[in-house]
Amino acid sequence: MIQKASNIHISIIYNISNQCFGYNYITACDIELYIKNDIVIISVLNNIITGFCIILKSNIPVIKTLCINTDFQKQGIGKLLLDKAIANCASFTTIHYYAWKERIPEYFINTLNKKGFKLLETQPEYWKYDSIKRGYSCIKCGFPCLCTLDIYELKID
Ligand SMILES: CC(C)(COP(=O)(O)OP(=O)(O)OC[C@H]1O[C@@H](n2cnc3c(N)ncnc32)[C@H](O)[C@@H]1OP(=O)(O)O)[C@@H](O)C(=O)NCCC(=O)NCCS
Repeated sequence: MIQKASNIHISIIYNISNQCFGYNYITACDIELYIKNDIVIISVLNNIITGFCIILKSNIPVIKTLCINTDFQKQGIGKLLLDKAIANCASFTTIHYYAWKERIPEYFINTLNKKGFKLLETQPEYWKYDSIKRGYSCIKCGFPCLCTLDIYELKID
């Protein structure tokens, strides 16, 4: 089941984010603000929160963070959250998906492609300044984060 997140879910979202992206890449405070100002959806299986997705409200909405607890990956939940995220942007003609190039698994790039997302642009070392300023280490490359952002675009007719 996919549902909108509320403040009671913050600590679990925070734990999943720390596990997937690195400690304090997203803080509990950030999550509270995303719930208030943007859209945060969660996947729930047998009362367990298995993953979450943040969609930034903007002229072109951005699916910014999609993350599944490692115990529940490769079970179709990421795709379910992606579908719901796209559905949340149904009134828009363009959606962007921000992918962490060094981390996103090949199988999920295939999923994005099947949905119609196309690679739009690549920004090397996108998180470098943010990781220095906010003091988080990347789970993939350490500190500072030197990972590359791939922006995928979906056009909806
Ligand atoms: C990337 C991520 C969100 C994918 O979520 P997921 O729940 O594992 O993905 P799903 O199980 O929904 O799989 C999606 C597709 O891959 C396929 N797939 C899953 N595991 C596979 C495998 N081992 N081999 C081949 N295909 C596989 C599924 O069948 C599905 O295919 P479909 O699109 O044809 O239906 C998840 O791995 C994750 O949170 N990773 C850590 C955080 C991260 O890296 N996020 C992305 C950074 S941008």
